[in-house]
Amino acid sequence: MKQVLIDRYGTPWDVARCADVADVGEPAADEVVFDVLAFPINPADMWFCKGSYRLKPPLPATPGAECVGRVAAVGAAVKHVKAGDLVINLQRENWAQRRKVKGDDAIPLPAGIDLKQAAMVRINPPTALLMLSDFVDLKPGDWVIQNVANSAVGRLLIVLARQRGLRTVNVVRRASLTDELKTRGADLVVVDADDLGRRVAQATGDAAIRLGVEAIGGSATGRLADCVATDGTLVHYGSMSGEDILVSPNGAI
Ligand SMILES: NC(=O)c1ccc[n+]([C@@H]2O[C@H](COP(=O)([O-])OP(=O)(O)OC[C@H]3O[C@@H](n4cnc5c(N)ncnc54)[C@H](OP(=O)(O)O)[C@@H]3O)[C@@H](O)[C@H]2O)c1
Repeated sequence: MKQVLIDRYGTPWDVARCADVADVGEPAADEVVFDVLAFPINPADMWFCKGSYRLKPPLPATPGAECVGRVAAVGAAVKHVKAGDLVINLQRENWAQRRKVKGDDAIPLPAGIDLKQAAMVRINPPTALLMLSDFVDLKPGDWVIQNVANSAVGRLLIVLARQRGLRTVNVVRRASLTDELKTRGADLVVVDADDLGRRVAQATGDAAIRLGVEAIGGSATGRLADCVATDGTLVHYGSMSGEDILVSPNGAI
């Protein structure tokens, strides 16, 4: 079977190679074997290959934080899935043709689900959902601001916020995204730049923005801090720039 391996950390497309490896074999009583049908390339997978992700296993290693697969065989003690079922996997190392995991890690999905959506159901949707509930007790009408609004997490957050009656300010890198994100439910779309705080205050009528979610790092973190209300909360959950977060004393206070 095929499996992606990295033998050293570095630029993902330089260090990742497709290897022929031994098949995973038959499942033990508490295991599930499934064929991988699709997996996304998440930013975390890129950081993993570069060696700058929080998980840095001994090499060689296989990337792949999530995937969707079709069950090929189950052990005798596994009752919640059967051959032919679609599953996601709670374990990593999914850039492979076939996986053998503990039964508890194989979560069944409804038949007929879009496979590309299914492949990315484990990480980004719950991330967007939990960021809207874990940090601030938001009420309908409250404002939330986020950057990387055009990302998968960002687009999910727009939809989930709209369903709850929350209003979103969506910070992007280019104005051409405005109509598309508004069609998804974005209230405001603004382009990131030095005077972000002033422009957001103007666009929201000086609304007190209670939650900011931020996934760029560097000075972008500080610009989002400038937009959040004095008693608001800023959540840093990703680092697309790879830079340390930079927030002014006033922004932090
Ligand atoms: N903490 C957690 O548990 C958790 C879970 C899931 C995701 N995340 C993080 O959430 C973030 C988004 O993930 P995703 O899978 O949704 O990403 P994605 O769909 O791959 O989108 C990446 C986004 O990052 C933007 N971007 C890339 N480089 C940038 C830079 N240097 N400055 C500003 N923006 C930049 C892109 O902007 P354009 O649209 O303009 O190209 C794009 O919108 C990542 O940082 C990821 O690591 C964290």
